[in-house]
Amino acid sequence: MIPNPTIVTAIQSRRTIKEFRSDPVPEETLWRILDAARWAPNHRLTEPWRIAMIGMQSRETLADALANLTESSQDPSVMAKAKEGARKKVMSSPVLLAVTCRLAGNRAQQVEDLAAVCAAVQNLQLAAWSEGIGTHWNTGKVTRLPETSALLELSERGEQLVGFLYLGYPAQVPEAPKRQPIQDFVRNLP
Ligand SMILES: Cc1cc2nc3c(=O)[nH]c(=O)nc-3n(C[C@H](O)[C@H](O)[C@H](O)COP(=O)(O)O)c2cc1C
Repeated sequence: MIPNPTIVTAIQSRRTIKEFRSDPVPEETLWRILDAARWAPNHRLTEPWRIAMIGMQSRETLADALANLTESSQDPSVMAKAKEGARKKVMSSPVLLAVTCRLAGNRAQQVEDLAAVCAAVQNLQLAAWSEGIGTHWNTGKVTRLPETSALLELSERGEQLVGFLYLGYPAQVPEAPKRQPIQDFVRNLP
């Protein structure tokens, strides 16, 4: 097979995007990106990925939950500021996805399934990048709130959250963070 240099270019040039333009992502473009998830390798074809598209009403719920972490301040201006910061975060992109992994089988299968969903997330990120769309894989505070688990019905559905994926046209593409040469992490065994 002839190696395809454009794939490596996409892998190297993709950046985590945290500032998005407000332009919407066309629906057909979004579906092309989502479709890339299912082509990830997955052992025994368990297809463990699940994706929830988080709408604005749900984002308000998440922003409230995030703001409530600012412990019971009696000062309404402190709470208002916390809410504003939380809203800014969860509303930062035109599209917000929650990528989850269906929990099934024994421990070994769960490890494999989680690995497959991580591969699916990278497929999503690279497919988005190839359309000029940036992503931010996030496992921050908001993903660990009980309200988030409730919103996504994780226990009822038997799923674990692998991360939020913020998605949209980049307002700014940051410099690539420095990486160590791969030789630093590779060893030879006899
Ligand atoms: C599993 C996972 C979780 C991440 N969670 C966060 C996060 O919560 N907040 C954040 O700023 N970046 C998060 N990132 C993005 C990394 O910070 C980012 O990939 C790293 O800084 C390298 O930048 P690059 O993606 O532009 O190469 C996450 C990445 C992965 C793979």
